[in-house]
Order: sequence, then structure tokens, then C-alpha cells
Amino acid sequence: MNYLDLLRQRSSTRKFSSEQITERELSAILLAANGAPVGSNMYKDIHLAVVQNRETLSELAQAAVWRSEDKRRIKEIVGDTELDTDDEITVKAHDPFYGAPTVIFVSHKNQDIQPGIEYANVACVVFSMHLAAVELGLGSVFMWHALESMREIPELDNSHLLNLPEGFSPLLGLALGYPAKEPRVRELRGDKIAANYIN
Ligand SMILES: Cc1cc2nc3c(=O)[nH]c(=O)nc-3n(C[C@H](O)[C@H](O)[C@H](O)COP(=O)(O)O)c2cc1C
Repeated sequence: MNYLDLLRQRSSTRKFSSEQITERELSAILLAANGAPVGSNMYKDIHLAVVQNRETLSELAQAAVWRSEDKRRIKEIVGDTELDTDDEITVKAHDPFYGAPTVIFVSHKNQDIQPGIEYANVACVVFSMHLAAVELGLGSVFMWHALESMREIPELDNSHLLNLPEGFSPLLGLALGYPAKEPRVRELRGDKIAANYIN
């Protein structure tokens, strides 16, 4: 597919069918991860953990779920009287993975030689997988919230379930699956990100 057409078809999917992706699709996604550029060629500092087990995903979601519930509790404590319908008051269990049957967690070796490059590296890897998903007709969405929540709430940090090598931290992920509805094709716009020209 032409690159700009790929971008026109790209969007974040937040509703997935429960059907698992195929082995062939997963292999293509992992190949795309390996095709991403990584600073100083340090591919050995990156690690991918593929999670397809629903119970494990629920445990990995706990910190994010707690965080969204807590926000609601805070609203109740400060007495937001607009929260008066049953729907609003009922704490909705929030799945940060949106029911995706596969989540790939991208971890980076902890390092301080090039501060911050670990975030740039994992973003390249996740974006490469996200674009490959478009090409394959899969839906996907970046996963930051679930991992940030685990860093914020150490007692609900279940990242040990990822069985990472010593000294690696999960920084970003990609939730993947078949989209519950056909994604919209969008025209590309050139005015979303400000730019100036220095002559
Ligand atoms: C680094 C990064 C982290 C993101 N984390 C999340 C996330 O945790 N949960 C989520 O629903 N979307 C997440 N997104 C998706 C963005 O919200 C989305 O890309 C943006 O709103 C633009 O929408 P689009 O992808 O449909 O064009 C993330 C995107 C990026 C690039």
C-alpha cells in the first residue's frame, strides 16, 4: 500500500472483536517491530512481551482501572453534584486495553547514557507495529496509560507478569486485534502540528 494511503487508513482502534489474530499476522507485526530504527543500533536494549491471556491482561490492567475509579471517588469527595444519574455514579470497570485479544508490551533496558532515548526507541517500535497492523487490516492502539498507572501505583504494578529480563522496564505497548467496526478512512491534514521555517 502507498505510504500516504496507509496513513489515511490509520487510526486508533478502541473497540475490538474477541477473535484472536492469527500466528501469521502476529509474525508480521513482530517483523515490523524489528524493522523499526533504534538509536545507536541498540536492538538488544529492546524487549517485546506478547500477552494473549485474558487473565494476565486483567491483572496488568489493575493499576489503570484503580486509577480511573479513584478519579471518580475524588469527584464524589469534592461533591460534584452533577454526578447524579445511576450511570454516572456507578463506577464503570475500565479496560485500558479495550478488550484487545493481544497486547504487545515494549520494554527498554534501563540506561542513563543517552537520557530519554528509551522513549524515542519504543515509540519507533510501536509505531512500526501500528502501521503494519493497518496494512494487515487489524486495529491497534498505543498503550501508555496502563504502564504509567503501574509506575504510579507500585502496589498494583503487575509488570512482573511480563517476565522481563533483569533491568528492563515496560514503557509502551500496542493493543491489537480485529476492529469491532470498519475504521474510517480520513483525509490527511497538514495543519495539525505547527511548523515554522527558518531560512
Ligand atoms: C505515545 C502514545 C501513547 C498513547 N497512549 C494511549 C493510551 O494509553 N490509551 C489510548 O487509548 N490511546 C493512546 N494513544 C493514542 C492517541 O490518543 C491517538 O493516537 C491520538 O488521539 C490520535 O488519534 P488517532 O490515532 O486515531 O489518529 C497514544 C498515542 C501515542 C502516540
